Amino acid sequence: MKVLFFGDIVSQPGRRAIRNCLPDLKMRYSPDVLVANAENAAAGFGLTQPIAKELFDMGFDALTLGNHTYARSEIFRFIESEKRIARPANVSESWPGMDFVRIVRGDSGTLIVLNLLGQVEMSPCDSPFAAADRLLESIRSQFGKVPVLLDFHAEATSEKVAMGYYLDGRVSAVLGTHTHVQTADECIRERGTAYITDVGMTGVVDSILGMAPDVSLRRLKDRLPAQYTAAAGRAMVNAVYLDIDRTTGKCIAFERIRTFEPEST
Ligand SMILES: [Fe+2]
Ligand SMILES: [Fe+2]
Repeated sequence: MKVLFFGDIVSQPGRRAIRNCLPDLKMRYSPDVLVANAENAAAGFGLTQPIAKELFDMGFDALTLGNHTYARSEIFRFIESEKRIARPANVSESWPGMDFVRIVRGDSGTLIVLNLLGQVEMSPCDSPFAAADRLLESIRSQFGKVPVLLDFHAEATSEKVAMGYYLDGRVSAVLGTHTHVQTADECIRERGTAYITDVGMTGVVDSILGMAPDVSLRRLKDRLPAQYTAAAGRAMVNAVYLDIDRTTGKCIAFERIRTFEPEST
């Protein structure tokens, strides 16, 4: 099963970059499945139903989220019944949303998409390691041995690397998101799990993590309050390509992707 996974899509320029770059990426990789982290898709924070629809209409099979899942209260209206969106599974049980997305692709097989939050330098949540154990056991009892892709949304590189080792051979991929800066450490671990510390964002090149530099500088340098605003301008796509053996669940090809919109955008 061939999968393209896109890192945190930030605001309208991130969505535009997907639209502009997707035809070429599809031609190059012939993906069976498209997955993206959409926690910043709505003006940098959260996800709305029209924006989720926009992404599904582009061909996405599953969307993952992160610490900004509930940034917009309107998500409560649709996340509970939307089977194509996985919110982090290690939040309070009472919080609405799906623990995972199941994508069935006939001859190409089935893929389960999971989303977990890290605990280090993040808002309080349950242990992602214990949650991974619990979910993998539940998935196995429901669907048998199927490939699983984990979007591990975490701040600390140490915690992300640790998760890569912890789940080696138990999932097809551990893909880091949240820090928005792509790392060059992609690899396939000893037991067949693809790992990267951060896929990177899909958003404006000339920005601070997709947001306007002047606002971020006011907050970080001057330490004064300022409303974050999404940056404008040419955007890039940070993504990964995976080829997963449908029977063993092992990743047999893993490639890091960084591509840019045309200059004229
Ligand atoms: Fe993000
Ligand atoms: Fe995040």
